[in-house]
Amino acid sequence: MSEGDRGAAGSWRRSYIAAAVAAVTAPLVVALAGSSALVIASTLALVLAALFFYVASVGQKEAQRATLNAPRPEVVGFDPSARAILECLDDPLLVLETSGRILFANRSSHPLVGAEAERKHISAVLRTPEVLEAVSRVLLGGASESVAFTFLVPVQRHYRAYLARSEGSPSLGPLILIQFHDLTAVRRAEELRADFVANASHELRTPLAAVVGFIDTLRGHARNDPEARERFLGIMSVETSRMRRLIDDLLSLTRIELNEHNPPAGEVDVVALVRDAAAALAPLAEADSVRIRIPDHEPLAVTGDRDELMQVFQNLLHNAIKYGRTAGEVRVTFGRTGPQGKREAAGQVFVAVEDEGEGIPRDVIPRLTERFYRVDIKRSRERGGTGLGLAIVKHILNRHQGRLQVESTLGQGSTFTVFLPAAAEPASR
Ligand SMILES: Nc1ncnc2c1ncn2[C@@H]1O[C@H](COP(=O)(O)OP(=O)(O)OP(=O)(O)O)[C@@H](O)[C@H]1O
Ligand SMILES: [Mg+2]
Repeated sequence: MSEGDRGAAGSWRRSYIAAAVAAVTAPLVVALAGSSALVIASTLALVLAALFFYVASVGQKEAQRATLNAPRPEVVGFDPSARAILECLDDPLLVLETSGRILFANRSSHPLVGAEAERKHISAVLRTPEVLEAVSRVLLGGASESVAFTFLVPVQRHYRAYLARSEGSPSLGPLILIQFHDLTAVRRAEELRADFVANASHELRTPLAAVVGFIDTLRGHARNDPEARERFLGIMSVETSRMRRLIDDLLSLTRIELNEHNPPAGEVDVVALVRDAAAALAPLAEADSVRIRIPDHEPLAVTGDRDELMQVFQNLLHNAIKYGRTAGEVRVTFGRTGPQGKREAAGQVFVAVEDEGEGIPRDVIPRLTERFYRVDIKRSRERGGTGLGLAIVKHILNRHQGRLQVESTLGQGSTFTVFLPAAAEPASR
């Protein structure tokens, strides 16, 4: 019997004694003092009984607490050489006892089950019903099997878990092995291929039809009309550059999406980066007589990929120039948010790009980052837009664990704010 069990049994024994004492005391007192003492005796007996029951229950709670806090029995040692071999595997791997307790979890499994998974029950570290049900089946003696499952946060990841039962060893008994294969890259490639074909064919059909139409016209009745030829060739040139830009943007989007589950490792000062992005767009701003105001600010370091973040800020500044007021202003603001919980302990850096354009209706704001979504298709086309800019921004920010916030007032303008996790140290760029 454990310490806790002994304590619990002892306290219950005390409570039985209390009840017996009360039962004997009451009639005794009545007999000695006459019927007038009946009330006093009963009360006394009840108080005594209550007191002893209370003492007994406190004792029982202490005993239970002692049982819970008792050190867990050590897992029987897992052979160090087996441990060393399994640590070399790139795939996450767990070895379970038949009770469901994790005997061994290699380092590759830490992103899935945490670094402290050993000696815990599988259901305490992996909350995926598909896998837990398969584990139960194999624990009950079922055949080897594999199950596919998906984690949705922080970014979507797809896995397949392979479960098998092994005879183990005389000291360990039977064991359950679970090996995980990361299918994220393969799945993403399949989805993107399908999306790419659908989007590209849809968006290319219109300019392609225009070009084919003009070729026919040039071969037909415009054959001897130099003025019409020049005009049609001009339109064909615009349409073909639009197609080229579209393909470039789609390829860029595909590349970013394929890489989205690999967090970036570099460090970038966003203040300097936004200045460089604005400098590259100066000719476009000048053409619309737009002035870009960027305040002086101390460096703000974020963890990120410089080229991708350059794409983010160029897109936002270009949109602010394109859809802002002609001869208006585009204002940039920088800052830091305070610490927000453990994951964002270093706080976040934000960059806001504000324009004085017509603004965006509130109900379409959530749709802006969809591929090919344009509030005003004609205006976007006239400005050479493909409707992919903000979709690219969204995917880059997903990869950076950042986010985009859009605020807009019709008739006054829009503010696009990027939030990115701050790097621990200031960037030297
Ligand atoms: N600052 C803004 N003010 C008003 N509308 C905007 C602003 N930024 C974006 N939009 C709207 O959102 C749509 C989508 O923007 P997005 O950047 O994805 O595409 P685009 O600018 O049309 O083309 P691309 O960026 O591929 O050249 C735009 O067509 C426009 O209607
Ligand atoms: Mg754009």
